[in-house]
Amino acid sequence: MNNQTENQLLVIFGASGDLTFRKLIPALYDMFTRKLLPEYFCILGASRTSYTNEQFRAEQHNHLVDLKGEQADMDAFLQLLWYITMDTYLSADYNRLKEFIQSLQKQCQLPDNVMYYLATPPVMYEVIPALLAANGLNHPSGTDGWRRIVVEKPFGNSLESAQKLNKELGSIFNEKDIYRIDHYLGKETVQNILVLRFSNGIFEPLWNRHYIDSVEIVAFEELGVEKRGKYYEGAGALRDMTQNHLMELMAFTAMESPPVFEPEMLRNEIHKVFLSLQPLDEQQIDKQVLRGQYEGYRQEPDVAPDSVTETWVGMKFFIDNVRWSQVPFYLYTGKKMSRKLSEIYINFKSTPHVLFAGQCSGGSCNQLIIRIQPDEGISLRFGLKMPGGGFVVKRVSMDFRYSSLSSELLPDAYVRLLMDAMNGDSTLYPRSDALEASWKFIDPILTHWKEVGGEGLLFYPPGTDGPAERDRLWVPD
Ligand code: BG6
Repeated sequence: MNNQTENQLLVIFGASGDLTFRKLIPALYDMFTRKLLPEYFCILGASRTSYTNEQFRAEQHNHLVDLKGEQADMDAFLQLLWYITMDTYLSADYNRLKEFIQSLQKQCQLPDNVMYYLATPPVMYEVIPALLAANGLNHPSGTDGWRRIVVEKPFGNSLESAQKLNKELGSIFNEKDIYRIDHYLGKETVQNILVLRFSNGIFEPLWNRHYIDSVEIVAFEELGVEKRGKYYEGAGALRDMTQNHLMELMAFTAMESPPVFEPEMLRNEIHKVFLSLQPLDEQQIDKQVLRGQYEGYRQEPDVAPDSVTETWVGMKFFIDNVRWSQVPFYLYTGKKMSRKLSEIYINFKSTPHVLFAGQCSGGSCNQLIIRIQPDEGISLRFGLKMPGGGFVVKRVSMDFRYSSLSSELLPDAYVRLLMDAMNGDSTLYPRSDALEASWKFIDPILTHWKEVGGEGLLFYPPGTDGPAERDRLWVPD
């Protein structure tokens, strides 16, 4: 990772919340210890909870001690933190924010570069930018400097709301200054999909409908909804995981190589994948998009006793382009599964003729498995002659594990994403048009489910791999 980050001020809205202490502050601390932060840098937390600077630092310190950092590093890092208590609905409070920003810029010798991070509930995604603009905080005060904004997911909860949010944000900040986070793109193993595909001559010739039988993308979690019942009831697995994380993984797997490795070129290719998705009509949705709910979900806190929210989704669809015509893509995600695992399976076609005993035939004999997490790595499965007499074939696996590269842990996704935004690099951030195209594909599913209510909702026991009916997706049309 390079450390050319520009000097700047980072303002975190929602600074007293869960995301700030669980993800953002630890990522920033990690960047601090790796010397990736700018030379002149400050973090200003903004939230309704009343803290002094000292109390805010003490609060973050309490969370950081779990990371077992050096006390001296921690003390130095905490000096970068500042806090303003404000009501983010109140325009007058943005004036105080403006004054605070100006005084920090002086005190910390910062140029007029400010990055806003919205670590708030989604209802604030339109309120805060509008009030920043109303108070002249969406542009630098002079000719130098910049303002950027980072928005957490969920980015809208339908095509219409995503379009509205894009429009609002686009009227306040330039598109190049809007960073929509999808933390899956910050994962090392996800970025490596591009390197694996585009820097190795052996995969590209096979990466198409002639040699690939199907593609499966899986993101399973052991945990249930925990304390997030209220949010999850309005989201469900389709909005929470599929529309964003799984669709991005799919786009990285399916996209064409960009002519050059530049943000807009890469984002163009991602956009094209979403534009090529074959839309699903109601009949296809019933057959090709299955939804499930784990038993016991309705008893979780803040969940309706008759909830029809899906905690598991399995779907099959096609990409209408020359590379992928007729190749089914399967996406699966679920909570309360037997294990936590995110993986991509490229299932190659088998040989047209079975020659040896034990030889595998069908669409998953040769598999390339990209293990996003855990046990990050890549495996290639193929048939091998069993030692001894005859020619008996056994399927074996050739494995690469990230853990064999070095003892250093893979950086958290937020480290990479924060660093990129701080550097003005939007390569790993979804662009507005691609996001809307992906919503356009997902939206009819949500509309149809709303119309049919709980009809078709499947139930599964916690600790399994989802509803037993999931194999229905594999029945050929
Ligand atoms: C989040 C979802 O975006 O991703 C959560 O809102 C989910 O519901 C999480 O648990 C999974 O992320 P990861 O990195 O643990 O796979």
